[in-house]
Amino acid sequence: MKKILFVCLGNICRSPLAEGLMTNKIVKLGVEEQFKIDSCGTADYHIGELPDERTSENANKNGLELKQRARQFEAADFNRFDHILVMDNANKMRIIGQATSEEHLHKVQLMRDFETDSSLHGTDVPDPYYGGNEGFQNVFNILDRCTDNLLNYHLQAIEN
Ligand code: 4NP
Repeated sequence: MKKILFVCLGNICRSPLAEGLMTNKIVKLGVEEQFKIDSCGTADYHIGELPDERTSENANKNGLELKQRARQFEAADFNRFDHILVMDNANKMRIIGQATSEEHLHKVQLMRDFETDSSLHGTDVPDPYYGGNEGFQNVFNILDRCTDNLLNYHLQAIEN
């Protein structure tokens, strides 16, 4: 089983959407037994809350329902998960700051390192929280692409 954790700042915009997209794709392929998917935030601002309404509405428009409640990242997540995908460089630094071994560090990667276009590797999934509605569809498109590539990466690893 591959255990994948998506991380952003608040766990109400970007990472719950990544979790929802990935879960949806896994269920469609009928491989949900082979994955555990979760998301969290580095901040404690929104613990226990449902995703931001703008994120949920945009996800609904794209045929996706988001139901999970926000939680905060904790150091124990390094042991619970195999692959930790972080939405931006600032939050990656916050996660890495809590690592206590090389093994932990190797689990952490930026979400956009899974872009098909390699010129986008190392860049941030933009935080849509303070922006307009178009920001939410932009984030959806980015995460749709990146979760496709992430899923293919893990499916290949399972087959080999
Ligand atoms: P997220 O977006 O990290 O994608 O969930 C944000 C949500 C809340 C805040 C910032 C970003 N906030 O400052 O409350």
